[in-house]
Amino acid sequence: MKIILLGAPGSGKGTVAQKIYENFELPQISTGDLLRDEIKKGTKLGKQIADLIENGNFVTDDMMIKILKNRLKQIDCQNGYVLDGFPRNLAQAKILENLTKIDVVFYIDTPLEVIKQRINNRRVCEKCSKVYNTKTYAKATCADCGGKLVKRKDDTPKIIEKRFKIYQTETAPLIDYYKTQIVKVDGTKSVKTAFEPVKKFLEKKVKKIGCEITH
Ligand code: AP5
Ligand code: MG
Repeated sequence: MKIILLGAPGSGKGTVAQKIYENFELPQISTGDLLRDEIKKGTKLGKQIADLIENGNFVTDDMMIKILKNRLKQIDCQNGYVLDGFPRNLAQAKILENLTKIDVVFYIDTPLEVIKQRINNRRVCEKCSKVYNTKTYAKATCADCGGKLVKRKDDTPKIIEKRFKIYQTETAPLIDYYKTQIVKVDGTKSVKTAFEPVKKFLEKKVKKIGCEITH
């Protein structure tokens, strides 16, 4: 099963992707995480990427597609995956259409005011990229791998406003583009409640195609 998670920066894409992985074992392909991994390598490309994303700008489509294609070749993607943060514009959506068929697009609808609050409290594991929120998890290390929890460099009030504006012009048109495939998720609800329609949809779909649900 191939899934797209569509939504503004901080809307909850990563959080929903983690829940899908826990429940259905489909790998989370976060293009943001792939780019941050490239930065950690300290290469020339990594430095170019850091300059762009730490200032709230997109990387070029060419850079993004190359990195994504490499990731999708890996064995864990054979039975499907969850695209978290891709596509982010119409050009990327068209490239993806030529690569593969998508089964469902979950659109996480969360207003900017809620996002600003959450982003301010977000922490991510510097080792495995797991997402936390200081409101629900007060420890300084990751529950899964023990890595240090840090604030992302693009999680400042100024940069988040910029990312939100770019989202509105570049990415929001995809809501219309995918209108026949969209299942809407209310991102203002608790993680458990917001995940319910996603879980229901995927359970039905898994039953229909005869696969087993792992949890
Ligand atoms: P990326 O890392 O994808 O950032 P983003 O899209 O801005 O989204 P975020 O990761 O900030 O938020 P999220 O929706 O995952 O929310 P989360 O679950 O963490 O990309 C970073 C950058 O890389 C981009 O700005 C761009 O520069 C570049 N890039 C990436 N993809 C690209 C592409 N395709 N093309 C070009 N450039 C690209 O949740 C946020 C917080 O809220 C967390 O603390 C979480 O715990 C909390 N939370 C979530 N849901 C709930 C809930 N229901 N209730 C309470 N709290 C919640
Ligand atoms: Mg994310």
